[in-house]
Amino acid sequence: MSAPLQFMPRRTSKASLEEMAAITPILAQLRFSDDDIVRLLSVNTPGGLEALRQAAYDLTTAEVGNKVFYRGIVELSNICVLDCYYCGIRKSNRDIERYSLTKDEVIETALWCAEAGYGSCVLQSGERRDKRFVDFVEDCVRKIKTRSVSETLPQGLGITLSLGEQRLETYQRWHAAGATRYLLRIETTNRELFRKIHPEKQSIETRLQALDDLKSAGFQVGTGVMIGLPGQTLEDLAADIRFFEGRDIDMIGMGPYLMSQGGAMRTEGMLEKHKLMPLALKMIAVTRLVLRDVNIASTTALQALEHDGRERGISFGANVTMPNITPRAVRKNYQLYDNKPCTDEDTEDCRSCLEKRVVSAGREVGWNEWGDSRHFGRRQSGSI
Ligand code: 5AD
Ligand code: FES
Repeated sequence: MSAPLQFMPRRTSKASLEEMAAITPILAQLRFSDDDIVRLLSVNTPGGLEALRQAAYDLTTAEVGNKVFYRGIVELSNICVLDCYYCGIRKSNRDIERYSLTKDEVIETALWCAEAGYGSCVLQSGERRDKRFVDFVEDCVRKIKTRSVSETLPQGLGITLSLGEQRLETYQRWHAAGATRYLLRIETTNRELFRKIHPEKQSIETRLQALDDLKSAGFQVGTGVMIGLPGQTLEDLAADIRFFEGRDIDMIGMGPYLMSQGGAMRTEGMLEKHKLMPLALKMIAVTRLVLRDVNIASTTALQALEHDGRERGISFGANVTMPNITPRAVRKNYQLYDNKPCTDEDTEDCRSCLEKRVVSAGREVGWNEWGDSRHFGRRQSGSI
């Protein structure tokens, strides 16, 4: 089994050969110590990176198959009650125009996604917890669910939510309405770092409680972190992977930390691209090796960093991608970070462009499939 993307130069240097020899026994393991994880994350030769990529790619094929699943992402509003310092749509950024799609716009966009064969959608938004918003989402989910049932999608469109910290009762209502997956990133598991990038009143404990609540509400639970945050170490990233493992997480969405003009961390800069891209890819690969049967997304932030970032993510072990299907008129207002790609393209352009990206990474698209996390299936059946 091999992916067509190759990052090895024609002549393999001595350093590459030595690193390949050092990591080959680690790559053959089924379980990894903290030191092993840090060693793999610190790979720094083309040969070492390629050996890691190949191992992660092959394990992906063996554990979750050859398909990449789409989740069309609808960014339904950029109104947000939070003030995360890294984020371009945080509450205190007065320089963006705030928008909210209407119920009809959300439903029509999701139905477009069902017709395009995407199989699943993600409803994402800035965070709101008021009754009007909770009712709005519940109604959107219910209507998308019933109206998307067709011959090709007999169970309707798969619905993932990415709507932040909510009360258990809200999660239960949204789950009962028909959403089955939920993404809520922990952002970093290093408590000190979490404190530094969020205002005082946003706590890691509340986030952890929300992840517990999501599980008890019956969701397939997704989380993830930002990679390359100022002050973050490889040990922190290794601890993040351990956290995903310890919490029995079903889905992972991680991406590089990118500076945002609308954020409050501009003075701290960001990791240079030539270091950040391989680090993000290594994080995907090592997460695959440790967690094995989970779904891992190749995120938009990877493509913001490098034009072929998404296919690289796929070739390093990701098996999900999330095309942006937000109506074009408002897309530019959902700038979580600078240079977000696909803000000008039409949804149709993204459709063909993304399929090329998936195929170029040696995979096929799982058209009209939900592509649920195999890990969740096993968790439900009690086989793990
Ligand atoms: N760089 C990278 N990712 C970001 N996010 C928000 N701001 C940034 C940024 N500057 C991510 C967060 C959040 C998700 C919706 O977007 O991880 O959970
Ligand atoms: Fe949007 Fe390629 S993914 S244009």
